[in-house]
Amino acid sequence: MTVSWIPQSTEDGSFTFFSEEFGEAFHSHYGARDEAFQKFATATDLAEKAQQGRLRLLDVCYGLGYNTAAALEVIGATNPTCVVEVMGLELDETVPRAAIAPPLIDSWSNSVQDVLRAIALTHHAVTPTLNATLLIGDARQTMQTVIQSSFQADAIFFDPFSPRRCPQLWTVEFFQLVTRCLLPTGKLATYSRSASVRAAMQEAGLHIGTIPLGETHLPHEWSQGTVGSFDARSLQPLSLMEQEHLNTRAAIPYRDPHLSDSADVIHQRHQQEQQASHRESTSSWRRRWGIC
Ligand SMILES: C[S@@+](CC[C@H](N)C(=O)[O-])C[C@H]1O[C@@H](n2cnc3c(N)ncnc32)[C@H](O)[C@@H]1O
Repeated sequence: MTVSWIPQSTEDGSFTFFSEEFGEAFHSHYGARDEAFQKFATATDLAEKAQQGRLRLLDVCYGLGYNTAAALEVIGATNPTCVVEVMGLELDETVPRAAIAPPLIDSWSNSVQDVLRAIALTHHAVTPTLNATLLIGDARQTMQTVIQSSFQADAIFFDPFSPRRCPQLWTVEFFQLVTRCLLPTGKLATYSRSASVRAAMQEAGLHIGTIPLGETHLPHEWSQGTVGSFDARSLQPLSLMEQEHLNTRAAIPYRDPHLSDSADVIHQRHQQEQQASHRESTSSWRRRWGIC
């Protein structure tokens, strides 16, 4: 199947794509570029961490490369001599290639545009301060390569399509794999605030914190996402409402025991576990907290 990627504008003026296969846009309609800065680069403290002089980033679901691009902009602005290693994982190599065409690439600085082009065209980018590699394939397999290379990340950008569309990458087992590459001081950030995702992160051994809401949000929203770390101290604690969400049926995580099941099989297993559960229903939790 030949896919042509058609840019769609988002509210901050940057562009995204829509995946017919997954039935979902690659970014929030509020702003693709803003999302990359707020939910990934800022949430993983890259400006502060750049002072270390060396940073390793794992970009799970590289897509258009916005999370890597935003990270490089932040690091370059705070410590241009910081040496950065990037490991990106992506299923479909046509996505990064389509994203280096104008107008998509125009919002990044010239040096970051050069990096995005090299990654998209050759799956590598090397400069005096950067070594980036893009691994193409199902992240459940390419993560094995990352583990074998002993890569240990200061920051992990965790950005698959939603659990409904792509449950394979939100399972306890996949988080267990990914967190093997997270430094004790590192942070994993994701846009998801779902209880099932948070529970999977906890079962994989992470402490979790929230990404607080920004200025613009809908009334039913309570968080911009989740940050996980082995070190609880630098995390923004969950509100009581978010903590109670983790006691409901919504907090039953997805499972994929052999890291090889289809989305349908993972959904069926999840539904069966939810139906057998005696936890509070999510609708009752919503009523108690006035969430419509
Ligand atoms: C929400 S988009 C990521 C957006 C991206 N981080 C960016 O800044 O543009 C999800 C991405 O996951 C990729 N993907 C889907 N299934 C995957 C899998 N099993 N392994 C690796 N990547 C996958 C899709 O091709 C898509 O590019």
